[in-house]
Amino acid sequence: MSDKATLEINGKKYEFPLVTGTENEVAIDIKTLRGVTGGVTTVDPGYKNTGSCESAITFLDGEKGILRYRGYSIEELAEKADFLEVAYLLIFGELPNQEELDKFHSDIKKHAVVDDDIKKILDAFPKSAHPMGVLASLTSALTAFNPTSVNVDSEEEMYNAIVRILGKFPILVAWTMRKKQGMPLDYGSSSLGYVENILQMMFKRPDEDYTQSKILVNALDKLLILHADHEQNCSTSTVRITGSSHAGLFVSLSAGISALWGPLHGGANQAVLEMLEAIKEDGGDTKKYMAKAKDKSDPFRLMGFGHRVYKNFDPRAKIIKVAADEVLSDLGVDDPILDIAKGLEKEALEDPYFVDRKLYPNVDFYSGIIYRAMGIPVEMFTVMFALGRLPGWIAQWKEMRTRKEPIGRPRQLYIGETYRPFKSIDKR
Ligand code: ACO
Repeated sequence: MSDKATLEINGKKYEFPLVTGTENEVAIDIKTLRGVTGGVTTVDPGYKNTGSCESAITFLDGEKGILRYRGYSIEELAEKADFLEVAYLLIFGELPNQEELDKFHSDIKKHAVVDDDIKKILDAFPKSAHPMGVLASLTSALTAFNPTSVNVDSEEEMYNAIVRILGKFPILVAWTMRKKQGMPLDYGSSSLGYVENILQMMFKRPDEDYTQSKILVNALDKLLILHADHEQNCSTSTVRITGSSHAGLFVSLSAGISALWGPLHGGANQAVLEMLEAIKEDGGDTKKYMAKAKDKSDPFRLMGFGHRVYKNFDPRAKIIKVAADEVLSDLGVDDPILDIAKGLEKEALEDPYFVDRKLYPNVDFYSGIIYRAMGIPVEMFTVMFALGRLPGWIAQWKEMRTRKEPIGRPRQLYIGETYRPFKSIDKR
């Protein structure tokens, strides 16, 4: 194969280098396009064909349904690793040995407190506030309490910023939920594992000791691992582009949280559960909702179906479907919502509309069912996604800063009015 791509514009030919990734993906390097062509640009709304960076963190092949973090398959990681090991892997590039993992955990624990004044900020939110808005605000507010900017050339400073946010973020997550439920704000216990501590911080009642459930710890570990990174999706690109202006880590993460909130992205897990509930309330007629999803005059979409990149199946959805079955049976929960979900999936997988468009269940089709069985309120589902995605966002932010990437600044094709003279107010 040639190592160059040729572009012809108005009879003039331009050559651009082809670059090949480690998985033999080929990209056209168009860095010089505007310069050599005298200002010709590209248009690609939604960046369906545009690579914004080179990255060594996550590989996914949407056709084959492959997802790997730093070369390790999502199937193996979900089965054999815990969330903290996966976080370390994503952020630092290798699986930690026991000593590295212990140190990582112990350093995170040292930072597992937040300034007490954060409680005042949380207090100012109405109970009705959506937890994602609260989480984004609190994450951004952390900057005010930790104002020194990170010198990204110092490995030590970078490491400290990373363990600091990994320590504090679960507290913000737990408090966001407890505030909504009117529960006292509390810290967990440094004697617990990272995920155990999250569960305790979320669920411990003030009048009872909290008993850890192995089933819940394993289920949450798995869910967080499956959500931990997904290369250049909407929220991750937001984190990278925000950080590319050299804005700090915490505010870049806060921007990512806001991007994740939308129902076309992380907000889908909440939307799925609400959709399944609505179908149940409406008598469980899945066919009616299938028809609505296919009707182009109806804005309804089957939430939890379709993916920008996966056009065969979402490997995370496969793992999560099995996990949903296991968790519900282990907890002895008989949830009619699960039957509706399975029914919808079966119909969609046999329906030409969905088959032709390669619309398969995505990771969020089943995650909400597990979260619900765990006792997590629906409005918290996307917050749980953010908790899982945190290591991925950190890894991507770190990569972007250490590779010294330029500020993100896409081009556009202007289609508005050409010059016109100013019209005074009496003539408009
Ligand atoms: N229900 C019904 N039709 C759908 C759905 C759906 N869930 N998703 C896509 N389509 C249809 C579109 O109407 C379009 O049809 P057309 O070609 O006849 O116009 C075609 O499939 C392609 O859809 P696009 O929106 O162009 O695909 P895109 O790659 O831009 O969008 C997305 C992907 C946003 C995930 C979309 O499938 C969707 O809205 N799904 C539902 C929301 C969802 O589950 N989001 C979670 C994504 S995973 C994640 O963030 C963790």
